[in-house]
Amino acid sequence: MSNNRVSRRQFLSYTIMGVGGFMASSLVLPMVRFAVDPALQVEGDSDFIVTDQLVSELTEEPIRVSFSYEQQDAWYTSEVTNDAWVYKAGDEIIALSPVCKHLGCTVQWEGSADFPNQFFCPCHNGRYEKNGNNIPGTPPLGPLDQFVVEVRDGYLALGEVKPNFIVS
Ligand code: FES
Repeated sequence: MSNNRVSRRQFLSYTIMGVGGFMASSLVLPMVRFAVDPALQVEGDSDFIVTDQLVSELTEEPIRVSFSYEQQDAWYTSEVTNDAWVYKAGDEIIALSPVCKHLGCTVQWEGSADFPNQFFCPCHNGRYEKNGNNIPGTPPLGPLDQFVVEVRDGYLALGEVKPNFIVS
């Protein structure tokens, strides 16, 4: 007979350790995963958001294009809605940010009857030319930002917002 027999006391302590370890890991692992999960998420393969706007319907008149996307803030996901002012300049698609470069109000195309063919900010009467260039003598100190655009299956896709690259 072997001398390596497990005593009843050893068997009991191994069993308690095994069950205790299993229970501890089932408590701790979800917490660890919860803590590190956002850092492990794989980013999407594209930073572009495809809108509902058909490119074929765009004209030289700026129109407001609304779009929404999911924003991940650590463990909290929320739906964000945003706008762009979009028009065609020849074959080029221009998409301008509606955020005023003065104090961040929302600009409107022809928002004032006194200033046709301009973007107008109602907060402090800020004005911009159609290409987003700020009109000297009004509060904004720089041109409207601009979206990088792509066409995906005939629809407008909006990418990163960059400093205006048509007026500079
Ligand atoms: S916020 Fe637009 S002019 Fe002041």
